[in-house]
Amino acid sequence: MSDVLAEIDSVSTAANAELDAVQTADELEAFRIKYLGTKGKLKDLMSLVGKAAPDQKKLVGQKSNAVKTQLTERFEVRKTELSSAAPAIAGIDVTEPGIRPAVGHRHVLMKTVDELVELFSRMGFSVASGPEVEDEFHNFIALNIPNNHPARDPLDNYYIVDPNQKAHDNVMGLGTDPSKQKLLRTQTSTVQIRVMETQKPPIRVVIPGRVYRPDTHDDTHLSMFHQLEALVVDENVTMVDLKSTILQFVRAYFGEETKLRLRPSFFPFTEPSAEVDVWFEDKQRWIELGGCGMVHPNVLKAVNIDPEKYSGWAFGFGIERIAMRKYGITNIRQFVENDLRFLRQF
Ligand code: DAH
Repeated sequence: MSDVLAEIDSVSTAANAELDAVQTADELEAFRIKYLGTKGKLKDLMSLVGKAAPDQKKLVGQKSNAVKTQLTERFEVRKTELSSAAPAIAGIDVTEPGIRPAVGHRHVLMKTVDELVELFSRMGFSVASGPEVEDEFHNFIALNIPNNHPARDPLDNYYIVDPNQKAHDNVMGLGTDPSKQKLLRTQTSTVQIRVMETQKPPIRVVIPGRVYRPDTHDDTHLSMFHQLEALVVDENVTMVDLKSTILQFVRAYFGEETKLRLRPSFFPFTEPSAEVDVWFEDKQRWIELGGCGMVHPNVLKAVNIDPEKYSGWAFGFGIERIAMRKYGITNIRQFVENDLRFLRQF
């Protein structure tokens, strides 16, 4: 073989080997400049045609053209491969399939909240919320719970201590401006007041939220739990509206056959008041969902709504109780134990 043909072969072999070794876009660009560029080695090959013996000119021309075509094609292929591949990271095989991330889901209680809000929104209720750290005005005073009422006992509330005050005064909530004394709210009824402070009748809201009480934990009590509050204020609102709304709710949520019972009771912020019970088939007994009643005129007065013109009803139900009844859960502690075997069932 002539020297010229041998040189073409050796350039072709070297170029192909270098192209095999190319790993990055930078290396590919270096390859392009070295071989395919205007001053690259393939240009040199073309100039060999002139140097070849006359009877070899044609062969040299064809061969160097073939090498050029082959390398250009391979270059283009490599270029597409590199631009579509994930960037190379040292020591990591980026083409290896990833580990599927564990996807969680809503906690059964939050799912219950969503279901309840959805159901009540279909009945024309909007949703409201309020702070979990409350003042005594919203938690007690405006709700017609007087200073000497047992519900205000420090042992029944998580008062928030102001380090600048004497311990005793702090605990008793004495000597302080009641609108400044803070506690973790014991009921979502606080938000009834907050809603009526900013909205005028007609009012139709539900309020899901967390509440806190220093209760001893057992199968049906936790010191933190959730309530669903409802408030309706309008002209000519009666107890019939209250009872029929609760009846519609329990039938829509627990099933058409659900047994409901309203027991006369007392709450400072409603008159008359009742406890609401539904039949718990699994336990063969009534379970108390919470309280309800017609909004007390003093509560309306506290927020400057005229009780002669407007009336209202309200209820406050335990959301854990509702979820327990709905899903047949018999121990409230399971909601907070974070046991995946429990949580994954819902
Ligand atoms: N706030 C009461 C509680 O936590 C429940 C309640 C009773 C709420 C009657 C109401 C109501 O809105 O009208 O025990």
